[in-house]
Amino acid sequence: MSKKILITGASGLVGSQLTEMLLQKGYQVVHVGRTKRAGIPHKKGASFVWDVNRQEFDTEALNGVDVIINLAGAGVADKRWTDSRKRELLESRTKSLALLYKTLSTTNHQVTAVISASAIGYYGFMGNEVFTENSKPGTDFLATLTKQWEAEADKLASLNIRTVKLRIGIVLSDKGGALIEMAKPVRMFAGSPLGSGKQNLSWIHIEDLCAMFLKAATDETLRGTYNAVSGDWVTNKEITKAIGKVLNRPVWPVHIPAFVLNLMLGEMANIVLQGSKVSADKIKQTGFEFKHTTLEAALKSLKL
Ligand SMILES: NC(=O)c1ccc[n+]([C@@H]2O[C@H](COP(=O)([O-])OP(=O)(O)OC[C@H]3O[C@@H](n4cnc5c(N)ncnc54)[C@H](OP(=O)(O)O)[C@@H]3O)[C@@H](O)[C@H]2O)c1
Repeated sequence: MSKKILITGASGLVGSQLTEMLLQKGYQVVHVGRTKRAGIPHKKGASFVWDVNRQEFDTEALNGVDVIINLAGAGVADKRWTDSRKRELLESRTKSLALLYKTLSTTNHQVTAVISASAIGYYGFMGNEVFTENSKPGTDFLATLTKQWEAEADKLASLNIRTVKLRIGIVLSDKGGALIEMAKPVRMFAGSPLGSGKQNLSWIHIEDLCAMFLKAATDETLRGTYNAVSGDWVTNKEITKAIGKVLNRPVWPVHIPAFVLNLMLGEMANIVLQGSKVSADKIKQTGFEFKHTTLEAALKSLKL
């Protein structure tokens, strides 16, 4: 019997593709989300509802589940970071994991592993340092959020459940996310580097990320934290140019000034104006093999 994998936040960018991949490989998939939907493709698998704020979970969802993949969280770049939005970004993540902890500690189940999303935002944004899983966390909003998010995931390990956190970089997909937003101005003949253009972007192709979630779910030697990045970081200027090349559009040498982006986006502008170099060595040492190792090849494989 193939493993049964429960995914939270499965309706999103990563969850949708991960579900397709798992079903194709013969895994059983169960979704848990804020609303019941026909989210599972081809009517395979079931969809259950949880209420993170009220800490309610339909325990029927756990029937026969071996592994939980936790992807839930309000979209970091979806809305301006007001105080209440910042609280939502944090609590949608910490309360989701707290609900999983509460449920798994009070219900009969056979879950042996929880694989939780985390983010390279953990490290903060620094010039040329290459961050490894042992690097210290940053001090900005996203770093503080990610630290608290991971601390909630760590509590699951105390239930004798194998726990893995994937610190995800910028996910390259043609179905949504950062790449689609970066490509929009380029497609409109208005592509320019942002700010200095020198900020580093540590990316991962969505196919590799989904494969990494599967490895973490099935390889019992994986525990703790792994950076989910390709290891081929590029600058904002380089990726803007690469997108221009794929779309056959010019990229102008005039940069969009940082103050304009700060005015438009407020503190959220940090996501595009700053960056970090993040190492993929630890996951490679587990034997994980990337399919997409260079930006150019990754972009060519996507339908931009
Ligand atoms: N995409 C990236 O570049 C990237 C980079 C670093 C880290 N990550 C992290 O990886 C995870 C998956 O990424 P993604 O791109 O697939 O995210 P996404 O498209 O925004 O999907 C996240 C899912 O979380 C659920 N959700 C949204 N708001 C919520 C709330 N207030 N409370 C509870 N659940 C909520 C939704 O699922 P339901 O509607 O089904 O409940 C949503 O589809 C996220 O935690 C994200 O922060 C992503």
